[in-house]
Amino acid sequence: MGRLEGKIALVTGGGAGIGARIARRFREEGADLIINDLREEVAHKVAAELGGMGIAADVADSTAVRAMFEHVASQFGRLDILVNNAGFGFAPGDDKSVRRVNEVPLKQQAELAAGGPIATHLDLTVEMSDEDWTRMIAVHLNGTFFCSREALKIMNPQLCGCIINMGSIMGTTGGIGVTTAQPRPILGFTRSLAREVVSRGIRVNALAPVLSIPS
Ligand SMILES: NC(=O)c1ccc[n+]([C@@H]2O[C@H](COP(=O)([O-])OP(=O)(O)OC[C@H]3O[C@@H](n4cnc5c(N)ncnc54)[C@H](O)[C@@H]3O)[C@@H](O)[C@H]2O)c1
Repeated sequence: MGRLEGKIALVTGGGAGIGARIARRFREEGADLIINDLREEVAHKVAAELGGMGIAADVADSTAVRAMFEHVASQFGRLDILVNNAGFGFAPGDDKSVRRVNEVPLKQQAELAAGGPIATHLDLTVEMSDEDWTRMIAVHLNGTFFCSREALKIMNPQLCGCIINMGSIMGTTGGIGVTTAQPRPILGFTRSLAREVVSRGIRVNALAPVLSIPS
């Protein structure tokens, strides 16, 4: 018998990447899955592959999040695990930043090895638009808060549950430019919420993956 047999688990951003892998592992352990994603087609695809329910919703939209959790409550009557995973490393489609993070440190090392000075710079912060910054905060921070709040409306009366927030190693060690700006507060929120809901038997933890920039 799997360790999650009979447990209902919702994974946000579960249509790809780390979220889809978490969902797969949960399924192997027997969990019943709800796969959320901004992109409806991938949410339904992963849900169909693993056997679960797919729900499209933008975690940064509190109305959509509330509707999603109301649907979960009406369909399943309970929620045991929430994984707040939805997010991105850089603004969606920002291939330029990804390329720079891959290439600039190597160029800087070469410049130093050749006797310096460093003439190539990352400049992620100075070039980030208001829209990209606001969206990053909205998805990672607001999304984690909105989903946790709605999940607790189901978990609180159960007197049990588990919330897992996706941070990043950048949240503890610091990191490259603006990529550090959202995991750090997520770690703080995780610690505060864990203290708040421990009296109800609900656990709140964070994961801090090491950054792997897609090439
Ligand atoms: N990959 C890494 O190296 C790494 C390292 C540290 C932290 N993280 C964090 O882990 C999480 C997953 O990263 P990943 O590499 O698997 O990303 P990914 O891009 O492969 O997958 C993220 C999924 O989240 C979905 N998503 C994005 N915005 C959403 C929204 N507003 N509402 C609902 N779904 C949304 C996307 O559609 C996508 O399917 C992110 O929060 C990321 O910041 C990743």
